[in-house]
Amino acid sequence: MSEWIQATVLNNKRWNEHLHSLQIEAEGIKFTAGQYTRLALDIDEVRVARPYSFVNPPDVETLEFYLNSVPDGPLSNRLVNMNSGDRIWVSTKPAGFLTLDEVPDGQFLWMLATGTAIGPFLSILRTKQPWNRFQRVLLAYAVRNENELSYRDLLEQFSKQHSEQFTWVPFVSRESLDYGLSGRIPTALDDGSLEEYFKQKLNRDTQVMICGNPHMVKDSISSLKAKGLSKNLRHTPGHITVERYW
Ligand SMILES: Cc1cc2nc3c(=O)[nH]c(=O)nc-3n(C[C@H](O)[C@H](O)[C@H](O)COP(=O)(O)OP(=O)(O)OC[C@H]3O[C@@H](n4cnc5c(N)ncnc54)[C@H](O)[C@@H]3O)c2cc1C
Ligand SMILES: NC(=O)c1ccc[n+]([C@@H]2O[C@H](COP(=O)([O-])OP(=O)(O)OC[C@H]3O[C@@H](n4cnc5c(N)ncnc54)[C@H](OP(=O)(O)O)[C@@H]3O)[C@@H](O)[C@H]2O)c1
Repeated sequence: MSEWIQATVLNNKRWNEHLHSLQIEAEGIKFTAGQYTRLALDIDEVRVARPYSFVNPPDVETLEFYLNSVPDGPLSNRLVNMNSGDRIWVSTKPAGFLTLDEVPDGQFLWMLATGTAIGPFLSILRTKQPWNRFQRVLLAYAVRNENELSYRDLLEQFSKQHSEQFTWVPFVSRESLDYGLSGRIPTALDDGSLEEYFKQKLNRDTQVMICGNPHMVKDSISSLKAKGLSKNLRHTPGHITVERYW
């Protein structure tokens, strides 16, 4: 089977001037929540492809991707300008290890995301797995400005549906708000303010999934290692499972 199918954009939801969600009709793409596939456009006769995480869970037919237009980025700036009815290439070969199948058992599941990397966690949270496997599910979602906290309604819905199990906290780093936490996730891991917010100690019963800005991923791993947690590798199970967006 060819790697690429031609699919149709159904909707482009604009959250703000640089954040959009694309809904795409593409049949027969099989994936596990937390994975990504590649989207592509033919630009000057060259197929330009980049990985994007699924926001929808696997059992929903319409695919959804949450995108940031990065300055001078060749693909992202075209994707955010797509309209309903436009054609787009979707890879039929999803991949990635930021899935609960890769995460060992534990009591507590922490999810740490920056920016558009909230996407794979939304997909996972829309499946039964986290709720069936973990006593508590705790999500930290970091953005520069408040108007980048997309999908808040969905997060509030999880809070209502799983009020005993789920807590999420927004981190806004470049504005001061009267809710959530300010600054960066690794600092809040180091100084204990994230544990205090969640009323949950990071311990060896904790599994942490981290996704997004590679500097945040690296700094968070260092903070978690200092607390006795280790990276989760296929041959040596641990507590920290990661995916970097660049
Ligand atoms: C496994 C994986 C999954 C990904 N999933 C998503 C996703 O769901 N949504 C998404 O928007 N992007 C995602 N990305 C990034 C995406 O693949 C592209 O790199 C991004 O859309 C920019 O594409 P571009 O061609 O315009 O620029 P590129 O040439 O690919 O990137 C230029 C620069 O932009 C910055 N950058 C890239 N992606 C982001 C981002 N998301 N937020 C902030 N800065 C960024 C980096 O500094 C990068 O070097 C993912 C990347 C990987 C590796
Ligand atoms: N956000 C915007 O207003 C905006 C507008 C247009 C285009 N863009 C482009 O989009 C890209 C950035 O997008 P983004 O804002 O989604 O992503 P980002 O730069 O990864 O920022 C998201 C969050 O991650 C934090 N972060 C950055 N480095 C970190 C580290 N080492 N440890 C912990 N946390 C860290 C940021 O905090 P800090 O704020 O402290 O860095 C911010 O809270 C850039 O290419 C940018 O030029 C952004």
